[in-house]
Amino acid sequence: MADQSLFEEVIGPTGRPLPDFPEPAPPRDVSDRRAAIVAMCNQKGGVGKTTTTINLGAALVETGRKVLLVDFDPQGSLSVGLGLNPHTLDKSIYNLLLSREFTPQEVVHETSTPGLDILPSNIDLSAAEVQLVSEVAREQTLHRVLTQLRSDYDFILIDCAPSLGLLTINALTASDYVIMPLELEFFALRGIALLTDTIAKVQDRLNPDLEVLGLLGTMYDARTLHGREVLERVVQAFDEQVFHTVIRRTVRFPETTVAGEPITTYAPNSPGSTSYRQLAREVLLRVQHD
Ligand SMILES: Nc1ncnc2c1ncn2[C@@H]1O[C@H](COP(=O)(O)OP(=O)(O)O)[C@@H](O)[C@H]1O
Ligand SMILES: [Mg+2]
Repeated sequence: MADQSLFEEVIGPTGRPLPDFPEPAPPRDVSDRRAAIVAMCNQKGGVGKTTTTINLGAALVETGRKVLLVDFDPQGSLSVGLGLNPHTLDKSIYNLLLSREFTPQEVVHETSTPGLDILPSNIDLSAAEVQLVSEVAREQTLHRVLTQLRSDYDFILIDCAPSLGLLTINALTASDYVIMPLELEFFALRGIALLTDTIAKVQDRLNPDLEVLGLLGTMYDARTLHGREVLERVVQAFDEQVFHTVIRRTVRFPETTVAGEPITTYAPNSPGSTSYRQLAREVLLRVQHD
């Protein structure tokens, strides 16, 4: 007799049946590479943009993809999180935006994770926001830079600054997809209408190809009724757009920042690593690019 439990639906944290996330197909042939560009975006700080950029990137690398992470926040947290010192950088993404002195390849750094590269930033980037205002095609500046790197990678992930200013508009204009991380706390949805409005304007005026890849719940505490209620409200509002994968709150993430490496190498068997690996599979299923 067949084991009935094999056929039971597993309900995921979002309250929807959890699909099987298949083993990812191998990446494209190197000669055929054309990166999917994904912006991690939410004008609220502390929602998990940087953490998601690093750990989704590292999990995609584990599937054989070559990945570039773009630090597009003048705070330089992504650079710090991968062991770079923003204060001692001789060149950063700032130089690529404001001059043609260097090629993008000259500014890219390798990280301690093979296959994971970074375009670092530092506080100079906040000056770029002001200086770009007077440039021609000021919204397309990052797009121009990343176009030159597309054939070197399978994925380019952009870690946005916590604002909806010109830098973030540049990130959305340069991207194929946007992921919105949401901290599953009381004010999770506050500001999301403004963000989706901004995305709609960019789609309308600057980048008709931009798609919302999904909303990602982060810092989830399943033990509290509050955490579960907030997640339920997010799913009510955004339904299928919410990733099945939800990232739980754990102190392992702040620890990885100090260690300067992704959780997938710092604590490879932790639940946080498993979640970002599952997110990578879910992202690969949702990204249909050619
Ligand atoms: N799932 C999580 N559980 C616990 N702490 C987290 C989690 N994700 C991120 N953090 C921590 O929360 C802080 C803010 O996260 P971060 O990714 O830097 O957000 P953002 O880039 O949106 O400002 C960091 O200290 C980070 O280590
Ligand atoms: Mg950040």
